[in-house]
Amino acid sequence: MASPNGEKSSELLQAQAHVWNYMFNYINSMSLRCAVQLGILEIIDKHGKPMTLDKLVDALPNINKAKSHGVYRLMRILTHSGFFVQEKIPGDKESTGYKLTPAGRFLLKDEPYSLAPFLQVLLDPNLAKAWEHVSEWFQSDRPSPLEIAHGTTLWGYAGNDPMLNQQFNDSMATDSRLVASVLVKDCKHVFEGLNSMVDIAGGTGYLARAIANEFPNMKCIILDLPHVVAGLEGSKNLSFVAGDMFESIPNADAILLKWTMHGWSDEECVKILKKCKEAIPSKDKGGKVIIIDMVVDNQKGDHDGLETQLFFDMLLMVNTVGRERDEREWSKLFSDAGFSDYKINPVLGLRAVIEVYP
Ligand SMILES: C[S@@+](CC[C@H](N)C(=O)[O-])C[C@H]1O[C@@H](n2cnc3c(N)ncnc32)[C@H](O)[C@@H]1O
Repeated sequence: MASPNGEKSSELLQAQAHVWNYMFNYINSMSLRCAVQLGILEIIDKHGKPMTLDKLVDALPNINKAKSHGVYRLMRILTHSGFFVQEKIPGDKESTGYKLTPAGRFLLKDEPYSLAPFLQVLLDPNLAKAWEHVSEWFQSDRPSPLEIAHGTTLWGYAGNDPMLNQQFNDSMATDSRLVASVLVKDCKHVFEGLNSMVDIAGGTGYLARAIANEFPNMKCIILDLPHVVAGLEGSKNLSFVAGDMFESIPNADAILLKWTMHGWSDEECVKILKKCKEAIPSKDKGGKVIIIDMVVDNQKGDHDGLETQLFFDMLLMVNTVGRERDEREWSKLFSDAGFSDYKINPVLGLRAVIEVYP
């Protein structure tokens, strides 16, 4: 069969399959969300050995048994996408059962690095409404599709929805737990010698708390919006300040900005960086800004890694006025804000620790 453009049938069918695959990408996320909602990951984990489909169906609460074929199909796609593996059951030559992979373990609700709260926030049907307004946003002067959908910013939206606010802050805290453990192991030198540090937009303070514990002589302050830091208790060398980073930033040797700059436009980032520069001493007195964010395409040749960074970039375009930046874009921000130099420490996978010097 020849196509109107002269491609072979095999090329034509391959192109069709490629389009199908991308059209159906959301089915991966939605299947994962369903497994998390049904508690499938916890049930398999608690079972302690590979779990047969029959045992899984029996253990799932309130499942209509006529739907057990659906559990098989859900498990089949999630096994294909790498969240479960099928293994032989010890002492049973005939049967195989499901086990969690390391990626699957990341979605257990009680794991210290759990991504389950992040998944719930990202796939929240109300928040996802912003995606219905992307074309309209391109044709308007509105700041973001989320603003068109909800009439407010992401932070305003989170502030008005206590449940989402809680899930969002939980997802940031579990991410910070993983980042903190990597920093303390592989990037301690970045914090050595600092007497004080302010974590700007530091959320509920998990990362700053871990650094304050590791460096008991360092005075740490966490600054975030009032609805985020309300009621949070500090410690001997850690305190919380409710405020707006565009208004005022407390003085310190270093300013930490984790997963913050990517939520803002270039103009706003330059404003934040200029405020940071006013709050820190000169480079020779140890002053610096420490940014934890993605550097797009930092892992050359990692196709999936780049795709994930581009997913984050689109997420930011839809929900905020921010973006993920490549090294050239970061470098321009730093020089526009009057900084002299920077160093990228590639120690955090798709993200990096960037030291920026006045
Ligand atoms: C993506 S979260 C990152 C939180 C934290 N740095 C982390 O990685 O866990 C961005 C944070 O910016 C805070 N934020 C937004 N606007 C702010 C402002 N004008 N001043 C201070 N914090 C702000 C939000 O409340 C939120 O906690």
